[in-house]
Amino acid sequence: MTVLSCPLSSLLLTVALVLADPTSSCADTSSLITLFRAYSGNASDHFYTTNVSELDNDALLGGTYTFEGEATFLWSTSQPSTIPLFRLYNQDFVDHFYTMSSDEVLEMIDQGWAYDNTPNHTAGYVYPYSICGAAPIYRLFNPESVDHFYTMNIAESQDAMKDGYQDQGIAGFAMLPSVDGSAVKDSAGPFFLPSTMTALPESQETATSSLSCADNANVVPLLRAHARTGTGQDHFYTTNSSEMNAALLNTYSFEGDAAFVWSTQEASTVPLYRLFNQIVNDHFYTIDANESNVALSLGYAFDTDSHIAGYLYPYSICGASPIYRLYNPSTTDHFYTMSQTESASASGYVVEGIAGFALLPSVNGQPQMSASPLLLPVSLKPSASTLAYDFPTTIALGPTSSIVPSNAGSGSATPSPNSEEISQSAMSRRAFIISMLWLVAKWIFS
Ligand SMILES: *[C@@H]1O[C@H](CO)[C@@H](O)[C@H](O)[C@H]1NC(C)=O
Ligand SMILES: *[C@@H]1O[C@H](CO)[C@@H](O)[C@H](O)[C@H]1NC(C)=O
Ligand SMILES: *[C@@H]1O[C@H](CO)[C@@H](O)[C@H](O)[C@H]1NC(C)=O
Ligand SMILES: *[C@@H]1O[C@H](CO)[C@@H](O)[C@H](O)[C@H]1NC(C)=O
Ligand SMILES: *[C@@H]1O[C@H](CO)[C@@H](O)[C@H](O)[C@H]1NC(C)=O
Repeated sequence: MTVLSCPLSSLLLTVALVLADPTSSCADTSSLITLFRAYSGNASDHFYTTNVSELDNDALLGGTYTFEGEATFLWSTSQPSTIPLFRLYNQDFVDHFYTMSSDEVLEMIDQGWAYDNTPNHTAGYVYPYSICGAAPIYRLFNPESVDHFYTMNIAESQDAMKDGYQDQGIAGFAMLPSVDGSAVKDSAGPFFLPSTMTALPESQETATSSLSCADNANVVPLLRAHARTGTGQDHFYTTNSSEMNAALLNTYSFEGDAAFVWSTQEASTVPLYRLFNQIVNDHFYTIDANESNVALSLGYAFDTDSHIAGYLYPYSICGASPIYRLYNPSTTDHFYTMSQTESASASGYVVEGIAGFALLPSVNGQPQMSASPLLLPVSLKPSASTLAYDFPTTIALGPTSSIVPSNAGSGSATPSPNSEEISQSAMSRRAFIISMLWLVAKWIFS
């Protein structure tokens, strides 16, 4: 089991990755700028801008918007591996909307949003994947008040979901702000992506093509089991049903399909390394070879011949959704789930980020082929809709537009009748600043 099958497509991917110079494909961190966040309770609108003059004079001066701190650090001009984060506005709903999908822009324009008056229609430039130490910007939507909300704070996004917001995936990847107001440059931690991965323009292009998607017909369930052992506990994952059955004869209880992954390497997939620590009884899974080395130095060992639990995507492409990774320090348990609800309610666990991207399991035991279209831009280029790969057409339609209720904009939202731009609804500046408490997650391996 040490020799792995290596189809031509993955060989080509490997070659492309070896040729790619990882340093030259990262954006220049010295030109990062702050994307500020403001909120209007009256209009139920989250507003984000890098333009201090627009923030101060147009949004805050009128008193309609309240400053809420730094949302993220991104770039104001195009940089290596970045793509535009488009900014749109809907004056009827008073909703600022941000997306890196040019297809979604067109759909939203169809639904009444319009480009806002910003350079090149952008709010800034972000990474489409988690590379170069960038962390995810979560996107949420409240259909009741018609508000798109963006945050890098996973705790805040989970609170918002208890408060009427729906998870709309990841809006892009950028640098986390820190409590002292500067960017946390390597905030995402190595486990967000293997350090060998890059997103050169070429690979972004092929990421949307049929060649670079793994074959959905070949997915296998990654089975999940759980055991309590004295004070500790362990979550165990394997695609090998014989091994699972053996574990169930012992202390483990079966908990169903965790994800659908590939048992051999296919296009765009990377290995998910599997390690075990006998002393603390913890199975640990990572796509980052460096992190598995760190784990080895901390007493973990590979416990299978292949060292690999399966293959999955390092970023959200081809209809794949995130596998959340959590850790409970008191029971030394690494826990992996694709259910955001479950990750939000896992008591004692800290969300450590995203372990990789795979196909969602469904209730009937089958994988969901196009699980979360909004987790990635529909296209990185406007021409992507012409590509051979069969992206479901529902992606282009966009959940946002389909869940906007016809009576949206009423209720608590009171849009200013005259406002063409946010600027015209502003009135007087708030005397105080609500400071944001940023959960700078401990991305360090525990
Ligand atoms: C910043 O905002 C001000 C006020 O809205 C506007 O006049 C100016 O053109 C903006 N600058 C850029 C670079 O967009
Ligand atoms: C919010 O709306 C209420 C009622 O429409 C109004 O009385 C109040 O002045 C508004 N507040 C701000 C800050 O615009
Ligand atoms: C706008 O686009 C043009 C042409 O692509 C580019 O030269 C310019 O730098 C862009 N400006 C910004 C602020 O992104
Ligand atoms: C599956 O697990 C069984 C029992 O642990 C083991 O004997 C077998 O080699 C495993 N198969 C693979 C393909 O790893
Ligand atoms: C990963 O490992 C390589 C080789 O050992 C090393 O050069 C690199 O700095 C490591 N990267 C991280 C993020 O630890």
